[in-house]
Amino acid sequence: MNPENNIDFLIKAYSSSLDYSIPRTSIILAAGHGKRIKSSQSKSLFKIWDKPSVLRVSEAAKTGISSSNQIIVVGIKAEEVIKRVGKSKNTCFVYQKQQNGTGDAVKVALDKIDKKFKGDIHIFPADAGLITEDTIKNFKIKFKESGFDMMVLTGKYEGTIDRNHYGRIIKDKKRNEVVEIKEYKDILALKSTYKTKHKGSALSFTKEELLKNKEFNSGIYAFKIEPLRKYLSKLKTNNIQKEYYITDMIKIFNNNNLKVGSQIVDSDYVIGFNDRVMLNKMEKIAQKRVYEQLKEIVTFQDPEDFFIAEEVAQNILKMSKKGILVDLTIGKGAYWGQGVILNKGVKIGKNSRLKGNITLGENVDIGSDVQISADNKNPVKIGNNVSIKGPSYIFGCIIDSDVSVEHCILKNKHIKKKISKDGKVKAIRYIFPKAEGTDCVEDL
Ligand code: UD1
Ligand code: MG
Repeated sequence: MNPENNIDFLIKAYSSSLDYSIPRTSIILAAGHGKRIKSSQSKSLFKIWDKPSVLRVSEAAKTGISSSNQIIVVGIKAEEVIKRVGKSKNTCFVYQKQQNGTGDAVKVALDKIDKKFKGDIHIFPADAGLITEDTIKNFKIKFKESGFDMMVLTGKYEGTIDRNHYGRIIKDKKRNEVVEIKEYKDILALKSTYKTKHKGSALSFTKEELLKNKEFNSGIYAFKIEPLRKYLSKLKTNNIQKEYYITDMIKIFNNNNLKVGSQIVDSDYVIGFNDRVMLNKMEKIAQKRVYEQLKEIVTFQDPEDFFIAEEVAQNILKMSKKGILVDLTIGKGAYWGQGVILNKGVKIGKNSRLKGNITLGENVDIGSDVQISADNKNPVKIGNNVSIKGPSYIFGCIIDSDVSVEHCILKNKHIKKKISKDGKVKAIRYIFPKAEGTDCVEDL
């Protein structure tokens, strides 16, 4: 099969139709190359807090605008992205053959929406992986209340100017209105003062003024669909990148007396990554968010070196809200991955990793360098007061309460509680699978 037929086939297989009774849909732009990330992997699949950025944005967008309608624009590495995101309700993929810019990507998505749809369009770049449901919900409410024809979500840049590659939000200070967005590369290319007009008044900005402007475009917008459809064809490629910029819609809307607004939020929620330095920064912000949520109920050996999946963190918070004294401890470098169900008093030591369908009883004490993994076919169930010392590896096991396990590799076993003659629970130590290749190993 030639690659494009294959993409067509995949798109059909993984797409489902929009629900036109919901007057809102999101569009996720994930077709770009991400040259600056210097990787063979699609930029949108880079993980933030162990989840691909595009998935984070997709999930937050659906819950944030309370609509399962979503169009995901794919292009470079489309196959990889489609398969990783997977199929879900009212969500479809569209293929942008050539990356002619964010404006063109939006056009490709709009072509997929039936003309009978009269609702709002919420646009997101796949690299805005720190956006949250709440930020989107607030923005949606603001947009609805304002009656504007479009709104852009912005942030205030906090680093040095030379690393600020975002589009700058140009405002008419007198009117406090958004005039247009000027892309970083286009500002750099300016030879003289930039002159523009806004509702009859002439405005001018020096290159330096534009570069120093800290309010940046997050790439997140809300549009009423009708004017968006009507004016999208007016976009031109008269810029340094010779691309169709969705950002130019602001100027076009202003010139056609449509109402444009903006909302500024904490930049930690709206930054995107074009390179690995930024990705690292976003990872740290995601970690800090989890730490801040849990620091009063979990003891962290190192607040900057741990992983707790967001779902697990939410469950811990729920337990605490119910009045349970959770008393959890997580060691440096330890990992509580998706699927793990914790119980009060659980301790996990340095560099231990738990991931998958794992249920822990109360006061389970896991030392350092223990790996426990499970899937739905091979769950792990550990009773109360169990202690496990590492290095150990456990997969798909049931471990009875009060047992202690030390230096074992256990796969699909039931570890039973037995009492020895002295009345103590028998310890389980040094159990390994049958050795293989012993003839290759000789004493020195
Ligand atoms: C864009 C904005 C910029 C904003 C920044 C926020 C434009 C012209 N510029 O710049 O103002 O500050 O995002 O992060 O919109 N994409 C496609 N098809 C394309 C091109 C891009 O799907 O043809 C997707 C990319 O995969 C990405 C998103 O659109 O997810 C944004 O594209 P990117 O190249 O990252 O734009 P920026 O230069 O960061
Ligand atoms: Mg970007």
